[in-house]
Amino acid sequence: MKAKSLVVANWKMNKSYVPGIMLLNQIISALDPLPEGQEMVICPPYIHLQTAQTLTKDRFDVYIGAQNCHVQKEGAYTGEISAPMLADLDIKYVILGHSERRRDFGENGKMLTAKLKQVLRQNLQPIYCFGEPLQVRKDGQEQAFVEQQLQEVLGQLSPQQMEQVVLAYEPIWAIGTGQTASPEEAEAMHAFIRSYLAKTFSEELAQKITILYGGSCKPSNASALFAQPNINGALVGGASLNADDFLAIVEAGREKL
Ligand code: PGA
Repeated sequence: MKAKSLVVANWKMNKSYVPGIMLLNQIISALDPLPEGQEMVICPPYIHLQTAQTLTKDRFDVYIGAQNCHVQKEGAYTGEISAPMLADLDIKYVILGHSERRRDFGENGKMLTAKLKQVLRQNLQPIYCFGEPLQVRKDGQEQAFVEQQLQEVLGQLSPQQMEQVVLAYEPIWAIGTGQTASPEEAEAMHAFIRSYLAKTFSEELAQKITILYGGSCKPSNASALFAQPNINGALVGGASLNADDFLAIVEAGREKL
């Protein structure tokens, strides 16, 4: 089985209710059905999830994801949202480990391992994010850094659990900076990630895992990124807030992925 291809929108903390639902409607009404094996995923703020799920439930190529969830199932955790709550809304994906959460909320490997396991228990698919800061790349240590972020979390999963995980390589220096990794830089890391999966699990499983690139992905660079053999799609921040730009990236995926 080939890895499925995803183009995922990460709206972050943008779009209040009405503008968000307008943007979603604009995107889904303009999208011709995607070929089998390709999906578009929208990860809006929590306030949109229920409406977004209702608006997309009849489409087999468009899914909704959350941007985070709490590690516990329920309880006295003021301000938090749990994985069972997301599952109850029929949400399909949950982004975990985004560098902004690692930076601003101290999320680390131990916590993220527990979150991934909780999400998997609810039959949701985690989109596990990782990637190196600029100085680490300048020092030529990016593969060792990424291997550590993979091992401390994915190394704790069974092959059956791993099959449900989507990976997103997001070099921190490329996020929101306009400075994208070149297709060659991204492909070199994606090939390294796939070889890690083959070594840790099996070659067969490694081929099934979707590995997304994230970091200033935009209409002008999406096709070149998607032409790389180990890039199965993108996690898109800034460019996902504009319907035309996001649709152009999804269309680039239709041709190439
Ligand atoms: P960006 O964000 O596309 O704005 O660089 C990507 C991300 O943080 O997921």
